[in-house]
Amino acid sequence: MLLYWASQLSKRGAFLMPGGHGGQLEDLAEQYGIIPKQLIDFSVNVNPLGLPDSLREVLQEGIASLSRYPDPESRRFRRKLARHFNLSVGQILVGNGCSELIYLVNRCFQPEHALIVQPTFSEYQRAALLAGGQAEHYPLSPESGFQCDLARLIQKASDTQILFLCNPNNPTGHLLPRTEILRIAKALPQTLIVVDEAFMDFVVDADFHSVVAGIFSYPNLIVLRSMTKLFAIPGLRLGYLVAHPALVEHLTWVKEPWTVNSLAQLAGEHLLDQDDYIRRTRDLICRERQFLFEELSGFEWLMPYPATANFLLVQIKRPDLTAVMLNDKLVHRGLYFRDCSNFVGLNESFFRIAIRKRSDNRQLLAALREIEGIW
Ligand SMILES: Cc1ncc(COP(=O)(O)O)c(C=O)c1O
Repeated sequence: MLLYWASQLSKRGAFLMPGGHGGQLEDLAEQYGIIPKQLIDFSVNVNPLGLPDSLREVLQEGIASLSRYPDPESRRFRRKLARHFNLSVGQILVGNGCSELIYLVNRCFQPEHALIVQPTFSEYQRAALLAGGQAEHYPLSPESGFQCDLARLIQKASDTQILFLCNPNNPTGHLLPRTEILRIAKALPQTLIVVDEAFMDFVVDADFHSVVAGIFSYPNLIVLRSMTKLFAIPGLRLGYLVAHPALVEHLTWVKEPWTVNSLAQLAGEHLLDQDDYIRRTRDLICRERQFLFEELSGFEWLMPYPATANFLLVQIKRPDLTAVMLNDKLVHRGLYFRDCSNFVGLNESFFRIAIRKRSDNRQLLAALREIEGIW
């Protein structure tokens, strides 16, 4: 029986295999025989400021709560989120990171056809396939700067049950204007429009660009948010979604209990008040993104794409050089990035770098110059 299910799953293709993300620090260090601490990780897009100092105390005090079950409905955190976004508690569902919610939405609504604007985060496709549906790609091309023809997308999505949009998009960093997303939601009332805003908090004027408030007008809109990137807590896991209360009720019914642990809930409440940390983060990201973009544009063989979040997609313009080859040279110099060849619609010439602090960014640039000299 077990073998039967294993063979059924493997028939569904390599996309069902987890992995292929950034942040595989331990694996890489082992492969190269390096101590993980010696590598600067440009592959994973978390806040370079590290988690806020004040959070350490909150977590320390929260340890006592671990001997009780966490609130399965994350009520205190949801109340705080509701006040923060001017929503009602019934419009919010908290998850074990945004990833849990991507899978939950698919499992709950079981779309036969999902449309995914590519290149993007691979988990939308995996979640749709695991929920028994089919995933279709809507490719945007590097040549057009990943611009989206809205009318064509609306036409293409008209017979799908679910459309995934990542905004700003991972790995391109491209931001779809809020008005365009709302136009899509309006034009496709029968389609669930899932907008993943996992990286929205890094965008200047994030509140203006977010479509969270759109859920009041569009009952087919689901907005996903992550707290793991902005607050550098990917190991703690925390995300939430906002949507029409009827959708939230349905999702809550399907969701497993206790997936959000007590410390994550406590952290969430505390982190919503960290305005100064958020302001410092946005200032740093904006300044360093600009710095890296300009410096990388100075390399004849590299082309960074304009971006709005805390990472840059870069294309290698030399046909004899791949991202894997470049990464190999970088690892020997103590840093590495995310090879993007496994993103749908990209190839081995693309890579993504996280925006880090100035000293790390300078080290990356120095390593690239050194490699340029020997190649
Ligand atoms: C676009 C996007 N959404 C969601 C996630 C997962 O977020 P979380 O850590 O909250 O599960 C990622 C992780 O890289 C991502 O890139």
